[in-house]
Order: sequence, then C-alpha cells, then structure tokens
Amino acid sequence: MNMYDIIYKKREGETLSREELQYFVEGYTGGSIPDYQAAALLMAIFFRGLDPKETFLLTDAMRHSGDVIDLSAVHGVKVDKHSTGGVGDKTTLVVGPIAAACGVPVAKMSGRGLGFTGGTVDKMEAIPGFRTDLPREEFLAQVNQIGLAVIGQTAKIAPADKKLYALRDVTATVDNIGLITASIMSKKLASGGDAIVLDVKCGKGAFMETEDEAILLGQSMVDIGTADGKKTIALITDMNQPLGRAVGNSIEVMEAIQTLQGEGPEDITELSLTLAGYMIYAGDKATTPEKGRELAEEALSSGRALHKFEQFVKAQGGDPGITKEPKRLIGEAGTTELRTKQTGIITGIQARNIGMASQHAGAGRETKEDPIDPTAGILLHQKVGDQVEKGDLLAVVYGASEEKRVKAVEEAEVAYTFGTKAPEKRPIVIKVLV
Ligand code: URA
Repeated sequence: MNMYDIIYKKREGETLSREELQYFVEGYTGGSIPDYQAAALLMAIFFRGLDPKETFLLTDAMRHSGDVIDLSAVHGVKVDKHSTGGVGDKTTLVVGPIAAACGVPVAKMSGRGLGFTGGTVDKMEAIPGFRTDLPREEFLAQVNQIGLAVIGQTAKIAPADKKLYALRDVTATVDNIGLITASIMSKKLASGGDAIVLDVKCGKGAFMETEDEAILLGQSMVDIGTADGKKTIALITDMNQPLGRAVGNSIEVMEAIQTLQGEGPEDITELSLTLAGYMIYAGDKATTPEKGRELAEEALSSGRALHKFEQFVKAQGGDPGITKEPKRLIGEAGTTELRTKQTGIITGIQARNIGMASQHAGAGRETKEDPIDPTAGILLHQKVGDQVEKGDLLAVVYGASEEKRVKAVEEAEVAYTFGTKAPEKRPIVIKVLV
C-alpha cells in the first residue's frame, strides 16, 4: 500500500477501505506520511466526500490513534455533551451541574478556545484556584462522589485529530462534513462516555451556516455514534448571534452562575434546559426527553443545580464563594464602552465579530501557548430585536489593557446591523436528531 495510490483513488471518487484509511491515519500520526500527501488526500476528500462507511472507518482509525479512556470505574450511564463551537457558549457550565444534580454522571473532557470561539477549560480556569489537570484517579473518584468533573483534554486523546486539524486549518479543508464528523466523533468515542448529546451550531457564527448543512452534520455524527453502540442525540441550535450576553472567560462564568440562580438570559436558559433534558433522558434518568426537561427545571428552580456547581468548583480546587460574589471574578478589570451611532432596531449581531472582539480584548489566544487575560471579554447590553437610540450603550468591553479594549470595540462595532423592523424571532433549538 502507498499514499500515492490512496490519493489517486479518492481523487477519482472511489471508496477507501478500512486498511487504506488506517494506513493514512497511522502513517500521518507517526510521521512517515508527509504533510503534502496528507494535504492532497484531505483536498481529494473535500471534493469527493466520504460515504457513511468511510466516515465511520476514518473516525475509528483516528479514535484508536491514542488513548481510549475507560470510564467503567464510574457508576451509571455516563453522558457526554459536545458543542461544535460557538460564541458565548457557556452551556457546559450550566448543563453539567443540572444533569449531575439529576443523577447523571458527567465525566467531561473539554478543550481550550482557539480562534474566535471560546473553550470550557479557559472559562473554568478563570475561577481562582480551579484545576483542570486532575490525575485520572482523582477525576474518576470525583465523578463517583459528586457526579461531575471537567478536565482538559490531553494530547493523548485522538492525536491524529490534533495533527490533522492543524493541517486542515491551513489547507482550507475544515468545513467538510465527513472530516468534521471524524474529528469530533473520534475524540468523543475515545473519551469513554456511554451516551453523547451533541449541540450542532448553525448560523453565521458557526461552521455550518445553513440549517440543511447543520442537519447533515448532525445526522452524520448521530449515525457514527449509534453505529458504535452509543445513544447519540444531536440538537441543531441557532448561532446567528452570540449566545447570552457575555463573551469572554470570567464574564461567561458569571453568566453561567446567574443562569444557575434562575436569572440567566432566556436563550441560555432555554438551551441549557433542553440539552440537560436530553442528557437526563440519555442517562436513563427519565423515560422521555420531556420528562428529562421537567427534572432539569426542578433542579434549576430548587437551587440543587447551583449547589452542584458549588460542590464541583470546590472539588476542583476553585473558590465556591464566587457564586455569592461573582463580581470578584472580574476584579478591577478596566472597561471601555461601545455606544451606537445610529437609531433603529438591531437586526443582526455577527457572532464572529463579537468572538474576535473578545479575543482582541485578551480573552483568546492566537497560538495554543499564548497567555490569556481571564477578565477580558465583551458584555452585550442589547440583542437582536432591541430598539436603540443614538448614543445608547451597545456593549462594554472588559480587560486589563486599554489598547486591547479599544481594538476590541472597533471589531465589535462592525458586528451590528440596524433596520426599522425587528427580524422574526428564531427558536434557539431548531431541530433534534435522535
Ligand atoms: N470541532 C472539531 O473538534 N473538529 C472540527 O473539525 C470542527 C469543529
């Protein structure tokens, strides 16, 4: 077998076998296949696509390129949750405690932010003292004790994806359904959960801009998870404007706490309750997703979910007192305001620009090694459909560096469009694929 023949075969639109896909994944991860041949195959896949069987085989080869986590020491049906990436998406911090408060064990590995989207690990680390590098035994013991632990995904999980993703990123081959499916599902299947609830973002701030594309991606991931014997559910959700009002790290934790206190923005609350309902159902703690949602609502309104969050923060070394005084998270961060130069109704807020503004303020990193400013971010005072008068406050940028905040305001300003009529309100959950 050789790489030339594999590239040629895919270029001609033929189907690749298990052995060929394995040869490629192993060779590329191990370093015997050079970037230029891997890039050529990725581009051939981009144009020719992968059929469902090839997608499954590629996912499987990537999943076995590193450690496959064994969660059998954790009691119960372990449910994993994954979002395809959005702006202002702090739902893991809300749904994890809700699901755990309803008896579903959540042993989650999360990523850091890169580009204009944020990552759960950076958000958790904005809490003073919080550790995301728990050793394996501590991680498993914590899930057995309190039902919830979140750690950073190690480089040993699906290393093939790490290398391939970096190559896709610089060869314009990211936005292909088969490749995204294999990338996400290889990591999910290697992470050891019994069931997976996927949040597939759709809209201008997501990889999949249209509903049809998002459904294709969601179905492709559901098919792979199901073929592997795991209950897999995908929610197609709106990402045409940032989720909630806070985008950053500390300020997103503050908004997650607010949501757990029952006072969060409507979109975050609705999405979190729906996702948690499906997690509770997938974890066999409810017979239907609707009953799962009722349990989720009870956990939220009774304060049990907030209490679970406090237990979780404490268990991982963080200060649980931040739920009483969340403002401590931003401390003395500086602020710069963005005020509107127009009068009218906000018809759009481009999530991508807001995500980039937060990054410019210091919340994101351009390379994996860059330090971040946990206090940096942007808080939206208006959302789509709101009426504003010239001079009204649109948003406040937080962060330690004034120079960065000014750059962030400039980026955020172009995110807004105005009109005379409010656009039709979109539901946050567009469709559910089971
Ligand atoms: N997220 C991933 O982990 N991989 C992709 O390919 C796209 C989004």
